[in-house]
Amino acid sequence: MTIGIDKMGFFTSDYYLDMADLANARGEDPNKYLIGIGQKDQAVIPPTQDVVTMAANAAAKILSDDDKQAIDMVIFGTETGVDNSKSAAIYVQSLLGISNSARSFEIKQACYGGTAGVQMAFDHIAMHPESKVLVLAADIARYGIGTAGEVTQGGGAVAMLMSQDPQILALDNQSAFHSENIMDFWRPFYRRDAIVDGHYSTDIYIDFFNQTFKDYSAKYQRTLSDFSAVAFHLPFTKMGLKALRTVIDDGAHSQKLLKEFDHSKKYNALVGNLYTGSLYLSLLSLLANSKTLQPGDRIGLFSYGSGAQGEFYSGTIAPEIQPQSLAGQVEQVIANRTRLSVPEYEAMYANGLSNAGGDVTFDAADDDSRFVLLGRQADQLVYRDQQA
Ligand code: HMG
Repeated sequence: MTIGIDKMGFFTSDYYLDMADLANARGEDPNKYLIGIGQKDQAVIPPTQDVVTMAANAAAKILSDDDKQAIDMVIFGTETGVDNSKSAAIYVQSLLGISNSARSFEIKQACYGGTAGVQMAFDHIAMHPESKVLVLAADIARYGIGTAGEVTQGGGAVAMLMSQDPQILALDNQSAFHSENIMDFWRPFYRRDAIVDGHYSTDIYIDFFNQTFKDYSAKYQRTLSDFSAVAFHLPFTKMGLKALRTVIDDGAHSQKLLKEFDHSKKYNALVGNLYTGSLYLSLLSLLANSKTLQPGDRIGLFSYGSGAQGEFYSGTIAPEIQPQSLAGQVEQVIANRTRLSVPEYEAMYANGLSNAGGDVTFDAADDDSRFVLLGRQADQLVYRDQQA
């Protein structure tokens, strides 16, 4: 029996900001953002979308009625939770009509939460082979207007259905991880925007990649040549490239890994950071766009969550993979987006639920996503299924 990712769904906002427009508005050379950071566009999340609606919109694309009955665990990895107590998973379970016999809960460790969910799902299915687990990874990345981190904002959701005999990626059950108390990025309770020590965070990311890759290689007697591609957590696409460059050389295999990396960053360059979902959007991008990867090829995955937790693990591409259908789903979402001017983005950024509380109603007339957030009434979030 193999265990892994059987289906993947993606969702992001209908709005985006062009990074050349942002550079011009901030008095920067556009090439700094386009080449130096490696981002082309950035998703801008309207007030009518939060992590619950984005994850529900992503999952609705992939789940059949049979899946909804078979799912016995819903794991939501996020650092943009909608409540300090109640998990976002319970909301999604209810919006989608997933069986009430499921365990539903939320996991937090910065951008690592989705990977924690994937690993927990693997262990659960190993013990209960008939189970299906829905792993959700959704976030909104915010640093603030005019900050150095602004160019690395974004948001969206990846939904993964995990099962035995998966049709996308079979996990090897081989993994190396490292955690340490590091203040590189965090978000105190009172803030909507993260606090970050930007350059320090990039150094720690690379340290954790080197350490976990070295541990993985020693544990499982593998070298870089055993991987057909490596997918990275991509807070901005240059970050993964910087990490990859620390382990490659001038040889032909390294050149192949660089080519595959280009495929793995395509969608992330258009969406920006989606924290917990970032590695999994990169995996989608790789599998959808590579012209050379084949079933059976081994992929390395590096997950990093500030604070900090790193993990390097691996899997092999399933025989039934359908790259065109993965590409079609993501590209349809991206192609239908509306470009915002910088003032329009700034206005949308300032909108949304404040931490101060109080009733608020959002106008969802312009949001044609299936699931929307209508606001907050009497301290309860109000969601709507627009197809109901
Ligand atoms: P900065 O200081 O404004 O940028 O912020 P810089 O001066 O370092 O320049 C960036 C790159 O652009 C450099 O390239 C420049 O040379 C180049 P590098 O040396 O790095 O290869 N450059 C140009 N290239 C072409 N043409 C030009 C030009 N000018 C300059 N004209 C920084 C950059 C990433 C620090 C900032 O955006 C930031 O703080 N971002 C947020 C933090 C972040 O994403 N950290 C990543 C690691 S931590 C992580 O992954 C976890 C995270 O996802 C959160 C979580 O876990 O929850 C963030």
